[in-house]
Amino acid sequence: MKHLLNLIRKLPPETSHKVGLNGLKGLNKIGLLEKMFDFDSTREQHKATLLNLDFKNRLGIAAGLDKNAEYVDELSKLGFGFVEVGTVTPRPQFGNKKPRVHRFQSQNAVINSLGFNNKGIDFMVNQIRDKKFDCILGVNIGPNKGSRGQQRIDDYSECFSKVIEHTDYVTINISSPNTPELRDLHEISELEKVFNEINRIKKDKQINIPVLLKISPDEDEKTLDLILDNIKSFDISGLIVSNTTIDKSVMKLNGLPDGGISGKPLFKKSNKTLKYISKFLNKQSQKQDNFVLIGVGGVFTKKDFDEKTENGADLVQLYTGFIYEGPAVARNILS
Ligand SMILES: Cc1cc2nc3c(=O)[nH]c(=O)nc-3n(C[C@H](O)[C@H](O)[C@H](O)COP(=O)(O)O)c2cc1C
Repeated sequence: MKHLLNLIRKLPPETSHKVGLNGLKGLNKIGLLEKMFDFDSTREQHKATLLNLDFKNRLGIAAGLDKNAEYVDELSKLGFGFVEVGTVTPRPQFGNKKPRVHRFQSQNAVINSLGFNNKGIDFMVNQIRDKKFDCILGVNIGPNKGSRGQQRIDDYSECFSKVIEHTDYVTINISSPNTPELRDLHEISELEKVFNEINRIKKDKQINIPVLLKISPDEDEKTLDLILDNIKSFDISGLIVSNTTIDKSVMKLNGLPDGGISGKPLFKKSNKTLKYISKFLNKQSQKQDNFVLIGVGGVFTKKDFDEKTENGADLVQLYTGFIYEGPAVARNILS
């Protein structure tokens, strides 16, 4: 298994990603996946009820790994308690020019400039409609690349109204660095427009699904404070902290490509933002049962997982840890 993983890792990153996940699909089809990665991911000590949802455990897959919800069953069988699929946009799009994923093995890091390559919301809905997964499902939504102004708000609305009946929670992604001007949505007047629409749809459809917001680790405290002050008025059920960083100083290398940095170099930076937010909410007594903080960024081991929870995370996600540690990463962290 180790040799096979090493071989797959030698392929170009996007090919290796596809080959690896399709390999897991193949193993699942012949009933070998659970046997190979067998452990009890549902032990009583791992269980948590948050957002009125029953999580078999607190470790999840972060957005971007399964952009089109094609591998949820497999990821759940590897032991993850929840899988966040997407980012999905209304219309399919290719994303940015290749190569757009770079691995830096010596630093356990990835830099990506994918730009929301995905098959569109209708494909996603077909993937998840009428399916029962053995884990909680989240759908992460975003706008198409060329959308600006009202069209961008409409993009979130379209994805949200199409997916609301088919998922356990939805994440509003305003923090990917690879879609031009997306991070401007951290501005409160812009964010308000998005949540006005989201809350209107929830009301119209009478479905009170949890809606989370995924934020960037590169924002200053003033911007964070404004968002935190508006959690209640926007009816935000949780924050995902954080997306990738564009701060190249976290890597000890020169001449890096542009894009979002993930993995080990992001660990400290995302923890700092997480801790700041957790403290802010505790001070304001805003941290209630039905609000969650999801810690993400640089989780590879049980120690990393524990540090996220010590910094205030109720749930933890990972992506780059999956690339470097392989499909047994959930078992290693949870057992
Ligand atoms: C190749 C790649 C693609 C990603 N795509 C998305 C995405 O589509 N939407 C999103 O919200 N985050 C995306 N992310 C960010 C991850 O969800 C996560 O927030 C970030 O990588 C930090 O976690 P990690 O250090 O465990 O990877 C992506 C990350 C990587 C490495």
